[in-house]
Amino acid sequence: MTAEKPSDHTLVIVPTFNEIDNLGQIVERLHRALPKTHVLVVDDGSPDGTGDLADSLAAGDTAGRIHVMHRTEKNGLGGAYIAGFRWGLEREYTVLVEMDADGSHAPEQLHLLLARVDAGADLVLGSRYVPGGSVVNWPKHREVLSRGGNIYSRLALGVTLRDITGGYRAYRREVLEKLPLEKIESHGYCFQVDLAWRTIQEGFVVDEVPITFTERERGESKMSGNIVREALLKVTVWGLRNRWQKITGSSRRG
Ligand code: GDD
Ligand code: MN
Repeated sequence: MTAEKPSDHTLVIVPTFNEIDNLGQIVERLHRALPKTHVLVVDDGSPDGTGDLADSLAAGDTAGRIHVMHRTEKNGLGGAYIAGFRWGLEREYTVLVEMDADGSHAPEQLHLLLARVDAGADLVLGSRYVPGGSVVNWPKHREVLSRGGNIYSRLALGVTLRDITGGYRAYRREVLEKLPLEKIESHGYCFQVDLAWRTIQEGFVVDEVPITFTERERGESKMSGNIVREALLKVTVWGLRNRWQKITGSSRRG
């Protein structure tokens, strides 16, 4: 008999807002790649019927691997993930994964992230910007924004991670049990920076593995000016606060 690994009980959380043309495929690809993995779709009342599609996928999966959470309000990626993490922590999952519904994060590469968790990492980031990682089909302005966001975050926070804004990642359960989820207010993509930053500050081991990020072919990105402004503002505040605490020797943030 082989010993149990953390990744034997993995929950992949997929937040959705208007992903009716993508959801079926991503779940199918995931189960082809890793048949035992459970999925939680967190839908924020998508007007296009993504939530109903998720329900029918769940009903059709006789193995009971597909779960659905319906939320009535669209309040950003951050809120959807926090709700999903809570759901997973109430159950016996030992690894919780973030994955986009639009095909940008290849389920075929998930095993690379999980292997690092099984080897002892607490949080593993799928990284576009380490050797071997790449971005396919992104318009130039998105790549500039993403690379700029990462450089800025590295400088402001003093971290060495190459892709702290990325949204394909695997958390060991203990990390999410430790973080004060009720205090996390980030809505948009800075949610990713927020969680990685808190994870580092708690002293957990954060690792990066190269991934290929492929821009969606169907549907639309929910990226907006507000999301960028929120990220810039918050990262700046966290960085300044961190420096201040280093100077004054006061404790880390709450
Ligand atoms: N439930 C819910 N509510 N889901 C949402 C919301 C929301 O308010 N906003 C976005 N989503 C879902 C989308 O349906 C998709 O499955 C996933 O979150 C990612 O959204 P996209 O709109 O496709 O994001 P992106 O491609 O622009 O950004 C990706 O890359 C960023 C880094 O460059 C994401 O992976 C981000 O997390 C990441 O920071
Ligand atoms: Mn996308």
